[in-house]
Amino acid sequence: MGLLAFFAILVPTVLNIALALEAPTTSLNDGNKIPILALGTYGGNGDTMRQTINWAVEAGYRHIDTASLYGNEEDIGRGIADVIGKGLVKREDLFVTTKLWNDKHARNQVVPALKESLSRLGLSYVDLYLIHFPISSEADGSDGYIDYLETWQGMEDAKRQGLAKSIGVSNFNSAQIKRIIDSSQIPPAVNQIEIHPAHTREALVTKCHNMGVAVMAYSPFGFLVPRASSAAPPPQADDPALVKIAQKYGKTTNQIVLRYLIERSVIPVPKSTNKDRLKANIDVFDFTLTPEEVATISKFNVNKSVFGDDDSSKNHPYYPYTE
Ligand SMILES: NC(=O)c1ccc[n+]([C@@H]2O[C@H](COP(=O)([O-])OP(=O)(O)OC[C@H]3O[C@@H](n4cnc5c(N)ncnc54)[C@H](OP(=O)(O)O)[C@@H]3O)[C@@H](O)[C@H]2O)c1
Ligand SMILES: *[C@@H]1O[C@H](CO)[C@@H](O)[C@H](O)[C@H]1NC(C)=O
Repeated sequence: MGLLAFFAILVPTVLNIALALEAPTTSLNDGNKIPILALGTYGGNGDTMRQTINWAVEAGYRHIDTASLYGNEEDIGRGIADVIGKGLVKREDLFVTTKLWNDKHARNQVVPALKESLSRLGLSYVDLYLIHFPISSEADGSDGYIDYLETWQGMEDAKRQGLAKSIGVSNFNSAQIKRIIDSSQIPPAVNQIEIHPAHTREALVTKCHNMGVAVMAYSPFGFLVPRASSAAPPPQADDPALVKIAQKYGKTTNQIVLRYLIERSVIPVPKSTNKDRLKANIDVFDFTLTPEEVATISKFNVNKSVFGDDDSSKNHPYYPYTE
């Protein structure tokens, strides 16, 4: 091969590697490392989802968030097989999170449910397994009353068997997490909750961090993106205060909101199935916000949830939406 041809291949290859942006990692309370930004996948499925995993890993994503509820574990598994097959990454370079649905909360249902997820994903373990929601459900969809402490014993079984490297919860409040810590052998490593500028959850985030529990932020864009809810509070994507910060750093307002969560030591889980937006959403590691800018964004808080608090369960003993 001539020297010129050699460089024509080498230079773009080196540049591609340099341009792929990986999120840094942080340590969980069990010693495992977690990338501090994850790919959300709710609503993506089929070939679109498989393609998204390819684009995301090429762009530098290493952490993928799914759930048995999302119905896309097989598509994600195909995408993972693609990127490993192409030699882009090895299994151990990836951090895969999935979640136990409400209809499998009995202790003896947890490991079998995880094994079904693993079979759909084509994996022998997940990096993180979460209880999706503290309230169990009956076959007809109505609320059940299985104590989440019992469910947690099943999660501990999964970790002991090596099927999940780390275990945690989602949509739990601080009292529920403390109750698990006080009466279990393994503390939750993570609580995944909704956090964005209109719903900042400062008290709950602080309490989780003080208990050694890492926090993942779902729906991180809040009302910057269109939502089913009719009453969207500020900020939206063209909000002047956000635009001012975005212009200062040469970023978009969506990127500013992701960086805001990172500054708060929260792990954002932005979802996109669009190649350009996937790239933009991980391009948030070359700048930092000042404490004043973080405070400015936190001032948008109105405790407004994207999904709306589920009023139907408000009187359930395990209802979680309190700080
Ligand atoms: N644990 C739980 O109970 C729970 C609940 C909800 C969500 N989650 C997890 O959290 C993830 C994220 O939450 P989410 O899907 O509700 O909301 P999100 O990530 O805040 O927003 C996703 C929406 O924003 C759009 N978008 C993405 N990047 C953008 C950008 N740079 N500029 C403009 N628009 C952009 C996406 O469209 P395109 O795809 O077209 O880009 C999509 O419509 C989920 O996918 C799921 O993994 C967990
Ligand atoms: C949001 O909720 C917290 C308690 O969880 C409360 O302290 C705060 O005042 C509320 N903020 C708004 C704007 O309602």
